[in-house]
Amino acid sequence: MEPAELARSMLGWYDKHRRVLPWRALPGKTADPYRVWLSEIMLQQTTVATVGPYFEEFLRRWPTTTDLAAADLDAVLHAWAGLGYYARARNLHKCAKTVAEQHGGVFPDNEEQLRQLPGIGAYTAAAVAAIAFDRRATVLDGNVERVMSRLFAVEEPLPSVKPKLRALADTITPERRPGDYAQAVMDLGATVCIPRRPRCGQCPWHDACAARAAGIAETLPRKAAK
Ligand code: ADE
Repeated sequence: MEPAELARSMLGWYDKHRRVLPWRALPGKTADPYRVWLSEIMLQQTTVATVGPYFEEFLRRWPTTTDLAAADLDAVLHAWAGLGYYARARNLHKCAKTVAEQHGGVFPDNEEQLRQLPGIGAYTAAAVAAIAFDRRATVLDGNVERVMSRLFAVEEPLPSVKPKLRALADTITPERRPGDYAQAVMDLGATVCIPRRPRCGQCPWHDACAARAAGIAETLPRKAAK
């Protein structure tokens, strides 16, 4: 299948099976960058189910980047308790302050500038650029790595194969609806292309998937021996 056809079938699947999540905008709308950024930082260490109440509480107490920037660090750390990795909460506060002080409270709309902000790495920069600004950016998390390793039957192990998976993922990322596309692949990895007993019968890429054709989907991605 051509990249354009892969993206099209993935977006069609998303339009039918899109998960309703607290930080997601209504269909056809882009989400508030503050909400996207906050949710993506929280989701880096915790499941969607755990993050929900924390996300709602942060939004209730600090509805905007500027509100969070003005908060006491101690109050933020306290509200973060239970999510783990306090360094992330410290960076969260630092990032809000930087956006408030250096960007007038408005998140920059491109990966390069997002990458300069405290606590924002390649994953978060791509996720915010794509989801909040509908910029073409390739979002690569563990779910997306698994989906790509299977679609292309990549048998070399993680972590060294990561750049190759990124390059493959990048060939499919569409110009149109890149934010929906990024969330679609993450949702697919979370609900269909799962680590054990993948639900290939429900996958929009069923016919294109090289690992499924070879009967090795469940064995991918491989991991280097420790
Ligand atoms: N996991 C982390 N971020 C996500 C998102 N935006 N959509 C689905 N799953 C995710």
